[in-house]
Amino acid sequence: MPPAALKEALPKSDRERWIEAFCCVRAETERRAAPLSAEDQVIQSMPDASPIKWHRAHTTWFFETFLIQPNVPGYKVFDERFAYLFNSYYVAAGPRHARPKRGLITRPSVSEVADYRAHVDAAVERLIAEASAAALPEILRILEIGLNHEEQHQELMLTDLLHAFAQNPTLPAYDANWQAPKSTAAEGFVDLPEGIHTIGHQTDGYCFDNEGPSHRVLVGPVRIARALVTNSEWLAFMNDGGYANPALWLSDGWAAVQTEGWQAPGHWQDCDGEWCQFTLGGLKPVDPAAPVTHIGYYEADAFARWAGRHLPTEAEWEVSARQGVLSDAFGIVWQWTRSSYSPYPGFVACDGALGEYNGKFMINQMVLRGSSLATPDGHARVTYRNFFYPGARWQFSGLRLADYAERFSLT
Ligand SMILES: [Fe+2]
Repeated sequence: MPPAALKEALPKSDRERWIEAFCCVRAETERRAAPLSAEDQVIQSMPDASPIKWHRAHTTWFFETFLIQPNVPGYKVFDERFAYLFNSYYVAAGPRHARPKRGLITRPSVSEVADYRAHVDAAVERLIAEASAAALPEILRILEIGLNHEEQHQELMLTDLLHAFAQNPTLPAYDANWQAPKSTAAEGFVDLPEGIHTIGHQTDGYCFDNEGPSHRVLVGPVRIARALVTNSEWLAFMNDGGYANPALWLSDGWAAVQTEGWQAPGHWQDCDGEWCQFTLGGLKPVDPAAPVTHIGYYEADAFARWAGRHLPTEAEWEVSARQGVLSDAFGIVWQWTRSSYSPYPGFVACDGALGEYNGKFMINQMVLRGSSLATPDGHARVTYRNFFYPGARWQFSGLRLADYAERFSLT
């Protein structure tokens, strides 16, 4: 064993770097859960959201099921009942508990889930350190999917918790010192002339399977807004009767407005005649200059119609983002596009349970691009395709506009 000082000086092996990356992602999940009590971690405020304890256990089940069990002969699972409780939607991985009932699971306790995480952490670290050189590439491939999967759940932990805390009349703050990220001042639209562009993942870096194959698309002419739509613009839409005018809405969207009683973005409430917004830092006055968030596709679409504009397609968004002309493309709100979540030409899901990761959801959902304030550092990509049902608005989701006036001036 080299002395500590010498050990520091030795170059890190690939295995050490992967163990470090694994520990780093696992620690971030725990960091996000740390301010929460056991009670906070149990509740489920709606079927789309999951309890924090469930996120912590499910991400662990993912590593245990897809990485450890196939690669560690004789591995004894931490608890045989957990596969049923913490499998999310992998039909090939066996039966599972009903999603809307995740909040009814008081046991295992939060501390038992912490033990589960520690047990699987140790097994993963051992596997990375000791796997044969021949087995290592496939192990690292699954490990990397598991890390990116856990990062996705880290974002959901914050959005799900915010929704849960919003149901509490005392409106608790997740972090009393939380501040909204600063948006960049930008004005106007940027021209995207007609042209053929390649979109989709093209590098050696990690991507989810739904980001490929890369392919060529015809884009433009179109103008894309440099800035995100702000709360003051949204207030103008509201004050102009935007939520009360069926002519602005898709039929399904108008039905949702009626059923859900939407009059403002999610987590907004009237505070003595002024609009306030429930945030991770508690209830705050709506900041007119901040990008609007917690709006669904139906609302984004209605706003664009009211503004005499459109939502960009995901190809238009990606081409613009690659050119670096969009302000706040990342790190504030996901941006709805008007592209339906469909497979790229030639997309084939991989075999086995992990083939269920993305492909089977390519129906009835809309694509969002960019990333949000809740997205973990390093997780975002210009080719990233997030997707939600058009009525979903508990995510940090907003919009930027597209304009096609140029197209119609062509002769
Ligand atoms: Fe998951």
